[in-house]
Amino acid sequence: MSKIELIATAAFGLESLVAREVRDLGYYHDVKVDNGQVQFNGDELAICRSNLWLRCADRILLKFGEFNATTFDELFDQTKALPWHEWLPKNAEFPVTGKSVKSQLSSVPTCQAIVKKAIVAEMSEHYGIEWFDELGPLYKIQVSIVKDEVTLTIDTSGEGLHKRGYRELTAEAPLKETLAAALIYLSNWKIDRQLIDPFCGSGTIPIEAAMIGRNMAPGLNREFIAEEWPNISDGLWKQAREEAKDLLKTDADFRILGYDQDKAVLRMARYHAEKAGVVDFTDFHPVPVEELQSSRKYGYIICNPPYGERLSNKGEIIQLYRDMGRVFADLGEGTWSFYVLTSLKNFENYFGTRAHRKRKLFNGRIEVNYYQFYGPRPGQ
Ligand SMILES: C[S@@+](CC[C@H](N)C(=O)[O-])C[C@H]1O[C@@H](n2cnc3c(N)ncnc32)[C@H](O)[C@@H]1O
Repeated sequence: MSKIELIATAAFGLESLVAREVRDLGYYHDVKVDNGQVQFNGDELAICRSNLWLRCADRILLKFGEFNATTFDELFDQTKALPWHEWLPKNAEFPVTGKSVKSQLSSVPTCQAIVKKAIVAEMSEHYGIEWFDELGPLYKIQVSIVKDEVTLTIDTSGEGLHKRGYRELTAEAPLKETLAAALIYLSNWKIDRQLIDPFCGSGTIPIEAAMIGRNMAPGLNREFIAEEWPNISDGLWKQAREEAKDLLKTDADFRILGYDQDKAVLRMARYHAEKAGVVDFTDFHPVPVEELQSSRKYGYIICNPPYGERLSNKGEIIQLYRDMGRVFADLGEGTWSFYVLTSLKNFENYFGTRAHRKRKLFNGRIEVNYYQFYGPRPGQ
């Protein structure tokens, strides 16, 4: 197998979590964390494993080349000098997209056209043909130029990794699966603690938590673009999928609760849990947050309540957040930990307690904070 440089792209604020996931997969050499991405070294099997396992990353890119270029000739020559034919078969379909930030080569369409021409030139020399019909497997190439540094990548994932294959129906303001998984990791929740999402909507947080609790690879029920590539044998994908199936906990004993006041979204949540293979590890019930109770001690709340930007008006939201503060404080005689994602400024004032930690994240384009309130540990 060859040594390959890979890039796991990630949303703002999730890079360090993705780096931890990469290391946990066993790829701990030369892991580099940057804005919006984590670079690491691997081989063909690493492409399969990282696509199957990374819960918080957006996609896995194969880093094909990196160089400095300030003229179109430099861009052409250095792109052509790369061994494209080693990865792209004669019939490959290879569209090129691009971006340019603070660089002399600022015309993205021209850069894309030059990269395409240079790849065709390299492949022509190797395959001895001038015309490529591009009817075969898809290799999505990206030319990214940041401060004159060019990075050429090939996408190995296809659809973003948040598409696990279980969410078919869309409720209002659903959380991206990658962000939901990140919220759970950031909370350090473990399966021996009761977890409730009192605003579960289409079920993303409970389902992602149940998948984590079962050690279920998030990509097990979907396909990836690189599965069509002749470069990575079917045997490697099979090996990675078999590994993932072997690691799935079949005897795990926990049940995550998802509540919402809207019965229609709860039907959706149950359907998604069924599709995700975690229906026996989740329960969904119509409970308004104002009526939330639990006698279990040391539980966890992880939630994404309405923000008032998209779902309701601000006055109602403020009242809702006041109610949350009152109700959460009583759970398990005051022993629970709470994790709340919201964009509302001054959230803590309404909730009634200062968070132990606050982390800035983005829910889509909305700037949010993840407020973390730590309860006591059992035995404290
Ligand atoms: C932002 S959405 C949650 C989306 C969810 N995380 C998902 O991925 O689908 C907020 C949810 O809170 C629910 N909700 C609003 N007010 C509520 C209340 N007082 N009690 C319980 N649920 C409520 C809404 O029905 C909606 O499903």
